Amino acid sequence: MSEQKALLIESKQGRFVVSSIPKPTLPPPGELIVKVQATALNPVDWKIQAYGIFYEKYPAIVGSDVAGDVEEIGEGVVGFKKGDRVFLQGSFANEYGGFQQYTRARADFVAHIPKQLSYSQAASIPLALATAAIGLYVNQPSGIGLNPLFDTSTNYSGQAALVIGGSTSVGQYAIQLLRYVKFGPIITYASGRHSEYLKSLGATDCIDRNQVSLSELPRVVKKLTGGVPVKVVYDAISNDSQFAGYEILAEDGGMVLTGENKLQDKIDGTGSKKTVARVFASPFMPTTQEFGKAMYKNLTKLIEDGDLVPNRVEDLPDGLAGIIAGLERMKKDQVSGVKLVAYPQETS
Ligand SMILES: NC(=O)c1ccc[n+]([C@@H]2O[C@H](COP(=O)([O-])OP(=O)(O)OC[C@H]3O[C@@H](n4cnc5c(N)ncnc54)[C@H](OP(=O)(O)O)[C@@H]3O)[C@@H](O)[C@H]2O)c1
Repeated sequence: MSEQKALLIESKQGRFVVSSIPKPTLPPPGELIVKVQATALNPVDWKIQAYGIFYEKYPAIVGSDVAGDVEEIGEGVVGFKKGDRVFLQGSFANEYGGFQQYTRARADFVAHIPKQLSYSQAASIPLALATAAIGLYVNQPSGIGLNPLFDTSTNYSGQAALVIGGSTSVGQYAIQLLRYVKFGPIITYASGRHSEYLKSLGATDCIDRNQVSLSELPRVVKKLTGGVPVKVVYDAISNDSQFAGYEILAEDGGMVLTGENKLQDKIDGTGSKKTVARVFASPFMPTTQEFGKAMYKNLTKLIEDGDLVPNRVEDLPDGLAGIIAGLERMKKDQVSGVKLVAYPQETS
């Protein structure tokens, strides 16, 4: 049986190690085997290792972002041929993880990489985009329902939105998806050094988080909007930032959280009409799969048309082994405004 290299979490909360394991062959009907050329890192990867969440079986292979080449094609799959450049989201199961040299993929959730994108740029997209898109566009309880059919004509012009943590990978896609449905103004809260870049993605106003504290944020946003109600708050940080976001949110507005919801006692029993959705960024669930398929159908064109640009990327050395130091940097909050990407085929 032929072998491949994979980055394994040896045991629950155990070490990351590079190891040889069997290479997947013969994809089941509806699936592809993809040779992983680039895989991006996400906070959830180190959280799974550190806290022992989401996986029951070990050793475990994580990694949610894949860009690569179609290696094998399962029965019934149309639209792909061997060697096509593709990108896709991995999921929390070893056969679908990104931190290995070959992975399985459900063909309905795979898109062609547009010519202008490198493998590493394409790998920056899947999980972070799904986190933004499901939270903003899918109906409750998964999201706040702004564009459940991924319709091109949805129009919220004249309505204000705020993205807290605009320079995060997720925040950058949230800004672009708000621009796609024509929100304006789109205000963001992030480090000032990213302001120009975030404006290029669609932000109209950037509030520097090093100048304005969370407690001052509601007042500063109100001044910027001239009192126009903020219909949407996307909180890509979701620590105590959610209290500021909730205060800013219009009475009939919707707020998306990427982390634990601490707002329950503000919502329960107060008669508030504000909607709060905590996103779980899987496009494969019964409640999200129709939307996920529509998103993957649209994805290549969205990028070709310039509606969506990938994150800026930093390429990591040392193949799969390089992921370990990259995740340490993320854990220590030492990554700012870029997506870290590893190249599994360069593993020695
Ligand atoms: N629920 C889900 O399914 C799901 C899925 C994906 C991600 N997430 C979560 O969403 C969050 C964002 O993920 P990501 O991959 O986008 O993160 P990321 O790109 O790794 O985030 C790094 C950025 O965080 C920013 N930041 C840190 N603290 C901040 C604060 N207090 N206020 C504003 N910005 C702050 C830094 O911004 P500056 O450089 O501007 O200072 C830095 O650029 C993480 O907590 C992640 O675990 C949840």
